[in-house]
Amino acid sequence: MAMGSPLAADVFDLKGRVALITGASSGLGERFAEVAAANGASVMLTARREDRLKEIAARIGKAGGRADYFAADATDNAGMAKAFDAAEKKFGTVDLFVANAGMARLGKVLEMPEDEYRKLMALDMDAVFFNSREAAKRMIAANKKGAIIATASIAAFIVERNIVAYNMAKAAVVQFTKGFALEVARKSIRVNAIAPGYVVTDINREYLHSPKGKEAEQKLPMQRYGDADDLDGVFLLLASNASRWMTGSTIVIDGGHVLSVGN
Ligand SMILES: NC(=O)c1ccc[n+]([C@@H]2O[C@H](COP(=O)([O-])OP(=O)(O)OC[C@H]3O[C@@H](n4cnc5c(N)ncnc54)[C@H](OP(=O)(O)O)[C@@H]3O)[C@@H](O)[C@H]2O)c1
Repeated sequence: MAMGSPLAADVFDLKGRVALITGASSGLGERFAEVAAANGASVMLTARREDRLKEIAARIGKAGGRADYFAADATDNAGMAKAFDAAEKKFGTVDLFVANAGMARLGKVLEMPEDEYRKLMALDMDAVFFNSREAAKRMIAANKKGAIIATASIAAFIVERNIVAYNMAKAAVVQFTKGFALEVARKSIRVNAIAPGYVVTDINREYLHSPKGKEAEQKLPMQRYGDADDLDGVFLLLASNASRWMTGSTIVIDGGHVLSVGN
């Protein structure tokens, strides 16, 4: 080993960091919260289901981590401002914001009701914009450098039948990541995104476990869907100082799924 080489545990360490994670009541957000706390961050979990948040925060606490929760709808800017206030009061200024809350809706363009379209865009696209802005404003006001991570999707890059609104929203998240990264780079705020392939969570479990879903799984290059913990490394990379020279990037992590389109 070369002298002075850093150790992985130090490079990816989140000690002293304050994280606020949306969509932390299940799936990927729950996992991100656990991983952030296990690596030293103080974590404020947010989502709408308070009972779930309470349970997860308690579990993190039992494991020796620092976590609290605040129930808020990610599409409610005033509610989210209160969540940031609560994080600040308990742990200090949030310097790791994870814009992860999201929903998926199938629906043909020709048939999707307007209210369903607007609901999806409000959460999957608009909330990423407004919540990330709130996070960055507070980092700037506190003169703190920080990181923002958005959960995009491979749906930003490929299309599948009947999920156009989701494709649109996630493509917007990738562009937001680039544009906002450029805007706040001089403020020492980095903005990156994770674009996962299919990871089994509440958002898709029913389909992925169906006979059709299982058949599709076998056609994937690595012949398996992901588990939430498959994203641990990418999450820690983007959250920590390990990615200190990265901004505006979207990392695809999908077992090769996007490569298989047309092959
Ligand atoms: N699983 C995948 O295959 C996959 C792949 C690519 C990208 N993604 C993205 O990953 C993110 C997390 O999804 P997931 O797979 O972990 O699904 P999930 O288990 O269904 O989690 C979605 C989370 O978002 C929260 N949420 C939903 N509506 C909300 C709202 N209006 N305000 C605040 N929170 C809200 C939910 O909590 P409450 O219901 O308690 O509010 C839940 O915590 C999403 O952005 C999704 O698009 C998932």
